[in-house]
Amino acid sequence: MHGQNTAPRLIYNIGELWTPEGKIAARGAAMQKIKKIHGACIYVKDGHIAWVGEEARLRAVDSAFSHEALGATPYNAEGLSCVPGFVDSHTHFIFAGWREDEFFSRAQGLPYMELHRRGGGIQNSVLATRSASLDDLILLGRKRLDTMLSLGITTVEGKSGYGLDEETELRQLLAMRELSRTGGPDIVPTFLGAHSVPLEFKGEPRAYLSFLTRKLLPLVKSEKLAHFVDIFCEEGVFGLEDSRWYLERARAAGFALKLHADEVSPLGGTALAAELGAVSADHLLKASGDHIAKIAASGTVACLLPLTAFNLREPCASGRRFIDAGCAVALASDLNPGSCYSQSIPLIFALAVLYMDMSIEETLTALTLNGAAALELAPHTGTLEPGKDADFLLLDAPSPAHLAYHAGMNLVHTVFKDGIPVWQNGRIPEMNIVH
Ligand code: NIG
Ligand code: FE
Repeated sequence: MHGQNTAPRLIYNIGELWTPEGKIAARGAAMQKIKKIHGACIYVKDGHIAWVGEEARLRAVDSAFSHEALGATPYNAEGLSCVPGFVDSHTHFIFAGWREDEFFSRAQGLPYMELHRRGGGIQNSVLATRSASLDDLILLGRKRLDTMLSLGITTVEGKSGYGLDEETELRQLLAMRELSRTGGPDIVPTFLGAHSVPLEFKGEPRAYLSFLTRKLLPLVKSEKLAHFVDIFCEEGVFGLEDSRWYLERARAAGFALKLHADEVSPLGGTALAAELGAVSADHLLKASGDHIAKIAASGTVACLLPLTAFNLREPCASGRRFIDAGCAVALASDLNPGSCYSQSIPLIFALAVLYMDMSIEETLTALTLNGAAALELAPHTGTLEPGKDADFLLLDAPSPAHLAYHAGMNLVHTVFKDGIPVWQNGRIPEMNIVH
């Protein structure tokens, strides 16, 4: 969409640049490793980073490359600080309807799963989403994507799971496909048909999973509508054995796997994710020490969702415990209409540092490189290094350390997507508005 500005560009006069490095998830102690460059510049060519480093170094070198970089269209960062764009690797942003009444019931002490047992919860969003058109879903999704961009999210994962029937599940995935054609954050779609057992299959989770396996997985695959398959492995939803049965079939059908695991009860989804070679296991609020050791020894990313814990009035998962065990920890929003209607990356930074015992460096790694790894995108995004997508943020603060210190406040000043400023000072820059 923003193809008019693809000329090589030199972003100079960056006060303080922080980035993790690498093309694979950072595990354990490696999550602390952040490259910090004072007086940085970034040379962007064809939407990718061609060079990043100290501006003084680039200016001191007399080579054809430095002449080329210094001759590119200049962009003055005016001393702002810089980090990679955030990767929100777990959201349910395509849905219709609201559940604010449930929010207040939970505030008064009604447990989240009790709402589910009473036939509310996810089922309420399924009713509203089934009656929404493709255009409705696109419109709702667009609004949420704009908010994401304003918060510095340049890549986002989005799940289906509010249809639980063929037509609506596909409509949710199609909405994401349409939205990814019109700019904004890159979207990675996940098929979460196994989010809940629909009324049509009440009391028969295996029969529903078998329907998904026979009918929907082949369709989603052949239409290339999702990269991942996810399941809500939880007491009263899909048990451990049903989850294993389904995920093995999804894996055989060529999907990469994710799991909602050990969120409310300690069923053992964390260990199952590790055993099946899932790309990520998410939530993990109730994961036991043994299971944390299993995920640490596997290639599976531990994706922690502190905004959901906050909304469920549960203690956040201890990021420290996971990192000290050697895990690759990612952090994500879990934006959804029920357990967590929040896209607040700023609040994630504050919760991680204040309540998960993570350092600001580990938190940044979790929201960039490790978020990308949770989407199998670490070779392409999540760090500021030559060859990666030129997705980065200028922050209205002297250092990225302020991301946690300014608790819950948005410091994003400018968002660069593929080397182009697509959000600036709370609005779309004039040059990118299509008239
Ligand atoms: O990640 N736990 C399952 N799925 C979502 C909540 C979905 C909903 O309540 O609508 C979650 O918390
Ligand atoms: Fe979720």
